[in-house]
Amino acid sequence: MAIDPTPDELFATYESAFSELPGFLNFASYGPPSTKVRDHVAHLMGIAGEAGPDAVELLFAEEVRAREAFSRLSGFPLDQVGLTGSTSLGLFQVAFGLSRGTVLVSAGEFPSNTYPWLRNSEAGRARVELIGEPGTQVTPDVVARGLTADTVAVSVSAVDFRTGYVADLAGIREVIGPDRLLVVDGIQGFGVADLEWTLADALIAGAQKWVRGGWGMAGLAVSEQGLERIEPLLTGWTGGAGAHRYNGEGPPPLPGAGRFSVSNLSPYATGSFAEALELVETVGVQALQGLVATHAGALIDHLDAAGVTVLSPRERDRRAGIVVAGVPGRAAEAREALAAAGITVTRHGEDRIRFAVHATTRSEVLGEAAAVVAAFT
Ligand SMILES: Cc1ncc(COP(=O)(O)O)c(C=O)c1O
Repeated sequence: MAIDPTPDELFATYESAFSELPGFLNFASYGPPSTKVRDHVAHLMGIAGEAGPDAVELLFAEEVRAREAFSRLSGFPLDQVGLTGSTSLGLFQVAFGLSRGTVLVSAGEFPSNTYPWLRNSEAGRARVELIGEPGTQVTPDVVARGLTADTVAVSVSAVDFRTGYVADLAGIREVIGPDRLLVVDGIQGFGVADLEWTLADALIAGAQKWVRGGWGMAGLAVSEQGLERIEPLLTGWTGGAGAHRYNGEGPPPLPGAGRFSVSNLSPYATGSFAEALELVETVGVQALQGLVATHAGALIDHLDAAGVTVLSPRERDRRAGIVVAGVPGRAAEAREALAAAGITVTRHGEDRIRFAVHATTRSEVLGEAAAVVAAFT
């Protein structure tokens, strides 16, 4: 009788697929892909290069694999899951699907989540109401204060790129009610944050960060209400039923999230995404979340012990993999010193160093990282 692998054994196999340098603490920028992803892209390129009779079929089957894995990990049914080229593109497609009312967005959001709404507003469609400022935590209270009778949607990052704050999606859903749309940019958490993604009417999450699937692909999941209310405006020939009739008529949109398809996607990008998502599933998001939380907690402890101000949330359910250190006026120097010590991070402005740890992070590097930063506080 076969014996199931233990969680430790599963994690050991997962971990052995990664080869980033131990000082890489920059997963909020991008997540180095596994050898599985890298090998799979080479394999798919090989299929394309050889050009056998079933090459196209094999290559485009990767899209289904990616959608299926995104469906399992997000909790959305398969027909409500599509793919698009990036988080930004998915947000544009959702934004341009709204023609009336006002959309509430924090001014502190990553620009991927402000430009689509601003552009849609400039085009005379749904208006955008920017609330807060850089660093504002988009709590249910903040959202509640911004709502008006005209608000048709709220768009928020599940995990804020700057502060690391994990949004209370259930609380936001409660204050906006069932009828307004909740649009969620999931890229800073999807794959390592075990969130209730189906609270969203539109969830968009790119492959390149915590999922570690490389650039060029994002999952786009849409609720039934979202499918009814978000017009498939920024879409193309592959988003329609009977796309291959080539008769010059605009075909009716596909029934599910596939209607947001603009054109065929790169099979290397869909294949990378599929491989990366399936690798996440071998360990499970809950287990990865636990490891990320442990490393983030240890880094916070080291920063505290070194006398460095921690600017990101400390409560376990309001943080994911991002930990922010305050280095007033000396962030550039701190980043340089970290790089000299082999530690890769992101600097935000003059005062902030953003660390981002993953499940594969080596705990030994965290104390050193805190000590380097402490010299600049
Ligand atoms: C919250 C957030 N959304 C979107 C993006 C960009 O995503 P994409 O390059 O897939 O458009 C980033 C990247 O830095 C981000 O932090």
